[in-house]
Amino acid sequence: MQKLNFYIGTILNPQNDQVCDFIPQGLLVTHKIGKGYVIKDLLPLKEGLLRYQKFMNKKNTTDFGHSLIMPGFFDMHFHWVQDDVRMMPKDSLLEWLEKYTFPTEAKFKNKTYALKKAQVFFKTLTEEGTIGGAIYSSIHEHALNYAIKKALGHFVVGNVLMNMNSPLELTQTEEESLELTKKLMKKHQQKFCFTPRFAITTTPRVMKKGAKLSDKHKCFKQTHLSETPQEIDFVISLYKKITGFEKVKSYTDIYQKTGMLGKRSLMGHGIHLSKKELLTLSKTQTALIHCPTSNAPLSEKGLGSGLFDLQKVEKYKVRWALGSDIGGGPFLSMFDVMRSFVHQHQKTGVKEATYVKALYRSTLAGAEILGIQKTSGNLNPGKEASFLVVPFSFRRIPTNPELFLKRLIDQHRKNREDYSKLVEMVYLKGDRVYFHKV
Ligand code: GUN
Ligand code: FE
Repeated sequence: MQKLNFYIGTILNPQNDQVCDFIPQGLLVTHKIGKGYVIKDLLPLKEGLLRYQKFMNKKNTTDFGHSLIMPGFFDMHFHWVQDDVRMMPKDSLLEWLEKYTFPTEAKFKNKTYALKKAQVFFKTLTEEGTIGGAIYSSIHEHALNYAIKKALGHFVVGNVLMNMNSPLELTQTEEESLELTKKLMKKHQQKFCFTPRFAITTTPRVMKKGAKLSDKHKCFKQTHLSETPQEIDFVISLYKKITGFEKVKSYTDIYQKTGMLGKRSLMGHGIHLSKKELLTLSKTQTALIHCPTSNAPLSEKGLGSGLFDLQKVEKYKVRWALGSDIGGGPFLSMFDVMRSFVHQHQKTGVKEATYVKALYRSTLAGAEILGIQKTSGNLNPGKEASFLVVPFSFRRIPTNPELFLKRLIDQHRKNREDYSKLVEMVYLKGDRVYFHKV
């Protein structure tokens, strides 16, 4: 007989922008395949008992009451080395980088410091329910190694590459950047993500050579694109003076010319883009990572970079997912990112910004972009038994997933720190890796 486990609770299972399966009293059935547990079935409890009661016993059944069972989050853009700048003053992107972020990242040169930070950060990340995504590390080799070792789940990680317009202690030569890229790519293979910080700090030669290597080894590439108008102006004026780029018309053109676009490319932000740029991103299957809490006004603890043009991005069918952009974004919890997404877009009349969409874009959409949707991203049968348990205190459970998510998430909008306390348990492939009685 197969080894089965049973979990009783309220089940949410995102499928796409419009559809999220919702089972107010549900049964999740998992079975062991190889080393880990895989989802076998999910169904209403009544039907579940008819089918499985004969296999259920005290030992293999966990009743979460009506607590929510949902897939773990994918945070598709964040800087693990920026935990300490989340709450620093944010006047504007470039000033914030120079004044607070670069000095903070420079501290990771110290190995003992970096290891201690990694131990705390990645434990917290799991506790917040994030089990996959794309991570930026500092320029330092050991910091990336620690991140890959400590991050639990499905992550790609890259060391930022910085060769120009950077403080001395963070400036590498082109050769250093390329040698490190080769070395770390060889060591970590597809877990490694080629990460030129952005066109301001990374020379086109490094981008070109690294992008080629990444394509050859099927590694992901990530960088920042069109986050603020000031940044875009600087990028264009800079590249106009670089041989081969004199005629470049847009920020996206620069990344296209250097081979940075493609189906394994993640572009952070992409707020201020022309139709032509969106068309290029769409054609090349490049993904945009929308970071609403980071882009939010200063009054909401963001950098005030502007609002992602959701309607245009959808019109041009550009692939996209959500990210926290820690420390541009102030909080790690993807519940906070979902809330900010819905709140900011709905305020400007974009009714398509629903909680159901926010959940899909914080889970399965990330797995799809990383190409691992067959095994992760939601709770469909056949996928890994990786899920979160989230208690809630309202008695009458709304009957549709949109209202349910709104109720669950809106309650903490005034105390955003509280999102970090929402998750009570985290399961990875059937293993309970976090438990905290809420
Ligand atoms: N652009 C280049 N580097 C960064 C960074 O660390 N954070 C954000 N938000 N934007 C960037
Ligand atoms: Fe970022």
